[in-house]
Amino acid sequence: MRRLSPCPFVLLLLCAPFFFTSSSLSTASDTLTPDSPLADGDTIVSANGTFVLGFFAPNPNSNNRYIGIWYNKVSVVTYVWVANRNDPLPDLTGTLSLTANGTLVITANDSTVVVWSSSGSSTTANPVAQILDNGNFVVKDAKDDSLQFFALQSVDHPTDTLLPGMKLGWNLTSGLNRNLTACASLTDPSSGPYTLSLDIKGDPQMFLWSGSTHTWRSGPWNGERLNGMPIMNTYRMYFKGQFVQNQDEVYLTYVLKDPSMLTRVIVNQIGSAQRLVWLDQPKQWKLFWYAPEDQCDDVSPCGPMGVCNLDDSPICQCVQGFVPKNPTNWVLRDGTGGCIRKTPLDCRNGTDGFVLVSEAKLPDTSSSTVDMSLSLEQCRAKCLGNCSCTGYANAYVNGTGCIIWTTQLTDLRVWASGGQDLYVRVAAADLSPMTKQSHHSGTAATIIAIPVVLGTILLLISIACFVRKTRRKKRVKISKSAHNYQEADGKDLELPLFDLTTIVAATDNFSASNKLGEGGFGPVFMGTLEDGQKIAVKRLEKTSGQGGTEFRNEMELIAKLQHRNLVRLLGCCVHGEEKMLIYEYMPNKSLDVFLFDRTKCALLDWQTRYEVIMGIARGLLYLHQDSRFRIIHRDLKASNILLDKEMNPKISDFGIARIFGEDETQANTRKVVGTYGYMSPEYAMDGVFSIKSDVFSFGVLVLEIISGKKNRGVFFANPDLNLLGHAWSLWKEGTRLDLIDESVSPRYSANEALRCIKVGLLCVQEQPEDRPAMSSVVLMLGSASALLPEPKQPGFGFISTKGPFECSSPTAYSVNEMSVTMCEGR
Ligand SMILES: *[C@@H]1O[C@H](CO)[C@@H](O)[C@H](O)[C@H]1NC(C)=O
Ligand SMILES: *[C@@H]1O[C@H](CO)[C@@H](O)[C@H](O)[C@H]1NC(C)=O
Ligand SMILES: *[C@@H]1O[C@H](CO)[C@@H](O)[C@H](O)[C@H]1NC(C)=O
Ligand SMILES: *[C@@H]1O[C@H](CO)[C@@H](O)[C@H](O)[C@H]1NC(C)=O
Ligand SMILES: *[C@@H]1O[C@H](CO)[C@@H](O)[C@H](O)[C@H]1NC(C)=O
Ligand SMILES: *[C@@H]1O[C@H](CO)[C@@H](O)[C@H](O)[C@H]1NC(C)=O
Ligand SMILES: *[C@@H]1O[C@H](CO)[C@@H](O)[C@H](O)[C@H]1NC(C)=O
Ligand SMILES: *[C@@H]1O[C@H](CO)[C@@H](O)[C@H](O)[C@H]1NC(C)=O
Repeated sequence: MRRLSPCPFVLLLLCAPFFFTSSSLSTASDTLTPDSPLADGDTIVSANGTFVLGFFAPNPNSNNRYIGIWYNKVSVVTYVWVANRNDPLPDLTGTLSLTANGTLVITANDSTVVVWSSSGSSTTANPVAQILDNGNFVVKDAKDDSLQFFALQSVDHPTDTLLPGMKLGWNLTSGLNRNLTACASLTDPSSGPYTLSLDIKGDPQMFLWSGSTHTWRSGPWNGERLNGMPIMNTYRMYFKGQFVQNQDEVYLTYVLKDPSMLTRVIVNQIGSAQRLVWLDQPKQWKLFWYAPEDQCDDVSPCGPMGVCNLDDSPICQCVQGFVPKNPTNWVLRDGTGGCIRKTPLDCRNGTDGFVLVSEAKLPDTSSSTVDMSLSLEQCRAKCLGNCSCTGYANAYVNGTGCIIWTTQLTDLRVWASGGQDLYVRVAAADLSPMTKQSHHSGTAATIIAIPVVLGTILLLISIACFVRKTRRKKRVKISKSAHNYQEADGKDLELPLFDLTTIVAATDNFSASNKLGEGGFGPVFMGTLEDGQKIAVKRLEKTSGQGGTEFRNEMELIAKLQHRNLVRLLGCCVHGEEKMLIYEYMPNKSLDVFLFDRTKCALLDWQTRYEVIMGIARGLLYLHQDSRFRIIHRDLKASNILLDKEMNPKISDFGIARIFGEDETQANTRKVVGTYGYMSPEYAMDGVFSIKSDVFSFGVLVLEIISGKKNRGVFFANPDLNLLGHAWSLWKEGTRLDLIDESVSPRYSANEALRCIKVGLLCVQEQPEDRPAMSSVVLMLGSASALLPEPKQPGFGFISTKGPFECSSPTAYSVNEMSVTMCEGR
């Protein structure tokens, strides 16, 4: 097992008090002048107190001393830069001084022996050396306060740490190559064998080196992030990666959303590239990301034209149209030989085509060529026109630019999500019939271009919406505070009104044979309009007291919400006391119909279940965050998830959803409405609801979808446990996959399943603040399980016959999963 401890010398804690005493003795200066050298034991501190520079001794058993920079306020001594890592000061007296021409020198034995001096030739007339708040130690002209022109700066000579704003990469003019080189050991900061550097051949990529071999490749910049690091999507909330490429420079850097956050990227002494984040509580550096992470991160484990996919077994597969070069080794799990073509390319005839590898980590781009001016269609044409071209892809994820490979494609891997589309050239005979056809009719490029164009349009629309939303914030607020259900009589909604006779005719006068089921606020009927269109009619119970309000509430909300994972409202019908909502008809009814039926559940294979989970997550994210209002569903459950023809999930029944004001995040409600088994502890017990109560219900749903079991009413080996408790005990015991519905086994991806279980458990944690927001949930479902935090014990893991529901009779409701209105909370 790899040890993931950072390079900085934790052992040095012993020496720390010594440093801190001396720093408090010296005047709080951040500069060094030719007249005032820094003696061993003294330090200088940056203006706002973030970084310190001074002498340190990493190895208590050695006299070797170094000049370095470390965090002033981090209780675990952490070095971010070492000046003389390969030239230690070998005894106890030493001085760092600045010469009159602006060179830094470390001298031993009363300035007689120079141990180290700064390289770099630019000189300054009035030099001062200064430690800056961003951790940069610079030599500059004393009269220049601009902090822009430095004769020397430590960030140009990084050690093993990249601080925010530091550049990893090249100054093309001077040939300066800034890279991170690991320390030899925890107690020896001299250069070790591991280096993280930016390779500017072809389309630039970051490489981790071990001596002279690659151990990891980041993939090229794709306009938003490094193609091989899907986790950077999650990053964006905290650290924004940037890539700069111009005539003078090519580099990667990152900036922080919250500048007070302490984070660093390092390469440690065992060759792991890592991002660490300092947490004041519990006063530790936490590992946020690391690479290499898994088998597919090794450099080209599946060889040329092979695809690494952790979800496959074996992990190596060949691209369509290719077969293993060495079938024996391949079967014996050595994929490094790669794959060869089934059919040779037939370039002259012009019949070659392309197979799509989606969600790909693009193959090594070291020898690929990039043309940012080409569209994907032109890219395809360019590739077809060059007989040595093996594949192409968009350079940027937003659909611009063109990368072309003219060598074998190596180090290719795919993820469940987060990659890019790659087109691999194959002979006509190896194209699937569909691809071939579209190629011959010349529409393949159009088919490809459409999603790109659509994506761009959607992006533009969402930007426009966002801008409008921001502009209209004020107005929305006013109208919301004046929100009055009495005013919502259906007239001012841009929603078709159906008349009663139409509906009566369509549903055969609400005949029992047309009844689909019972929703929260009344029965639901299937209907067929005159033109043959099928509809679902939710008829509000006339006798229901609250129903009128909730009906209108639902109508108003749903009319405004449009998302592919929300059921669509076609119109409504108001006739005196009679109120109805007309929805699109969902031929596959609801999720519970499949999930909890031992014969039908076999129809839900793993892929479908996974996509249902993703779909619900996206729908809920839309309700919570992306729609015009912040909406809490409050009654999310399997019977409220409808399924369309293609088994796409659609969330229904917003009858008790609440519109939330922008600044409200939780509210107290006197009336607790919801369904047993899906209600979060704080909601059921105290009537406190928030988006995190929906997250809890979502977590229950995820676990139900995976296990095919109801949270309530199913009894496991231990009769005190409900599904949540059961899942939690399996999780702790390490028999995590036992949770999976046996009707799915063994045809599922263990990786995806573990990820879903983990996300499910994270969502049902007892404390609302521990549960992730839906935006994180959506990201987590697309990232590696090992990177997710460990869940804590779920709320309501145990069946209690009394407990939270004491004031109402549980048996009255638990029978049929209906929405219930419970006793008054506080
Ligand atoms: C400094 O002097 C001591 C003894 O005078 C000697 O052992 C040591 O090697 C000297 N250091 C250097 C760097 O020359
Ligand atoms: C700066 O001065 C030192 C001696 O003080 C000398 O060794 C060094 O070569 C000088 N550097 C430049 C760039 O002039
Ligand atoms: C790159 O190096 C050249 C030559 O040393 C220097 O003039 C230029 O300012 C450097 N560029 C940047 C962006 O630092
Ligand atoms: C790292 O940078 C140093 C100094 O610029 C350079 O000599 C070395 O070749 C670089 N290593 C890699 C792997 O880029
Ligand atoms: C794609 O992204 C790049 C860089 O972010 C930007 O310059 C370009 O305009 C974008 N193109 C489109 C069509 O959005
Ligand atoms: C110190 O300055 C740096 C750089 O300007 C800034 O990011 C950081 O938040 C500051 N820290 C404190 C404690 O003020
Ligand atoms: C071109 O394609 C035809 C039909 O597939 C084939 O018979 C012929 O041999 C090909 N020509 C060359 C030069 O490969
Ligand atoms: C094909 O592409 C390679 C790499 O870009 C290039 O060197 C070669 O000249 C191209 N060949 C033709 C015929 O365009």
